[in-house]
Amino acid sequence: MKRILLLGTTLWLGAWMVSCQTQEKQQKDFRAAKERFTTNCSGCHGAQMEAFTDRKWKHGNEPDSLFQTIKYGLGDLGMPSFQNAFTDEEIQDLVAYIRTGIENTGQYTFEEETIRSDTFETSAEFDLKLDTVYSGGAVPWGMVFLPNSELLITEVSGRLYKINAQREKTEISGGPETRAFGQGGLMDIELHPDFETNQLLYLSYAKIKVDGGDTLATTAIAKYKYAGDRLTDGEDLVVAMPYSKKPYHFGSRIEFDDDGYLYFSVGDRGSRDTNPQNLDNHCGKIHRIHDDGSIPMDNPFVGDSTAIQSIYSYGHRNPQGLAFNPSDDQLWENEHGPRGGDEINIIQPGINYGWPEVSYGINYDGTIFTSDTTRQGMHAPLHYWVPSIAPCGMDFIDSTLYPQWENQLLVASLRFKYLNRCKIQNGKVIEEEKLLQNIGRVRNVKTGPDGYIYVAVEQPGSIFRLIPIQK
Ligand code: HEC
Repeated sequence: MKRILLLGTTLWLGAWMVSCQTQEKQQKDFRAAKERFTTNCSGCHGAQMEAFTDRKWKHGNEPDSLFQTIKYGLGDLGMPSFQNAFTDEEIQDLVAYIRTGIENTGQYTFEEETIRSDTFETSAEFDLKLDTVYSGGAVPWGMVFLPNSELLITEVSGRLYKINAQREKTEISGGPETRAFGQGGLMDIELHPDFETNQLLYLSYAKIKVDGGDTLATTAIAKYKYAGDRLTDGEDLVVAMPYSKKPYHFGSRIEFDDDGYLYFSVGDRGSRDTNPQNLDNHCGKIHRIHDDGSIPMDNPFVGDSTAIQSIYSYGHRNPQGLAFNPSDDQLWENEHGPRGGDEINIIQPGINYGWPEVSYGINYDGTIFTSDTTRQGMHAPLHYWVPSIAPCGMDFIDSTLYPQWENQLLVASLRFKYLNRCKIQNGKVIEEEKLLQNIGRVRNVKTGPDGYIYVAVEQPGSIFRLIPIQK
């Protein structure tokens, strides 16, 4: 009897220890999977598992489909394959982690994430108070002020709105035919420098076409006449070549200089090995054209019969920020790197900025595609970010309303949900500060005609004016 009891206890104890060990292993695997998710996935999918799991699953959320998606990626959609980075067991742990997330996630609304406070501390003598110009919209992209200070904003969905002095919102019709297509849609907006006399307005957008069974898109730059609440006389000035099935890396920022030259960016469209280093296509480039789309005769590759004549600089990945520095009239650019290696550059004609031959970044799955950060004949960035902040719009603080910040550079961070302030000295970023932390994905920033900084934030689409208030 005793023996049986003893045996029973031993068995029970053994089972208990095994179960503890399994639990411990499970917890360890879970922690490792969580860390793997943060390092490898959150850059594109967001840091919060809730935001990732509570979505409409397009490719299935059963263990097997999740496994396939992670292991092999989603071809042209921009979801990388992780088969070289993780073992099958590690992928299974990730699947388990995601599935736990699915089970534990209540209804996740982005509203919960919206700002709880309307005042943000800064390191300056003043804090920043948010003045809401507009809220409750979809994903905003470009913004520009009319001469009467009314604000025009584009939404990736394809809509263009005007916000008047009373902060009423009117939709402006007649713009390009587009829709949200991955990262593309209706994107940037700029006015002609002589807008008051010619009413010309420029837009960048994802031009979409169906070819056989495939839907293809490319970046296009279009000119319109602004006629009150609608656009007329639409004309595509540039349709970037080639079209691609891939719905990402459109670039699309537009900027005019005072002489009426129009600069715009086109991303590499996900074809890094064929596009950015070759001059026979528009992608992975900054371009310069006249206001009617014609080619300035002093463009750097004019006369090179194999080159696209509008190319101004090349070797770019996905440039989504362009701004002229008011203190030296140089064109500043920022671009998304891969995993790490987001850059700020000063754009000069004919220069190769190196993508993908040189970079501070690595592949999404952690593998290396280049070990070089500089090479003869290629310009190194003026500044870079590791990890990637996913920079979007940027502007200089061309205003005296923010003492000590005059002429500093502001860069919107989509990924980390803040506005990055960069102090620049002798062409170097010597100080950075994260402003408006956790405000939401910051899409764009502009100094308005009233001297205030305006930021465009996602989830929900909002525009805030930043009021400095004495501490
Ligand atoms: C470079 C950006 C990027 C990275 C890094 C990335 N993904 Fe993705 N992922 C995407 C895109 C883009 C899609 C496709 C979304 C769509 O179809 O709309 C996607 C889709 C998915 C899906 C399918 C979602 C659905 O709707 O069915 C899963 C699951 C997924 N990713 C998991 C991961 C995991 C896990 C990691 C990290 C190991 C990761 N992803 C890293 C961009 C990324």
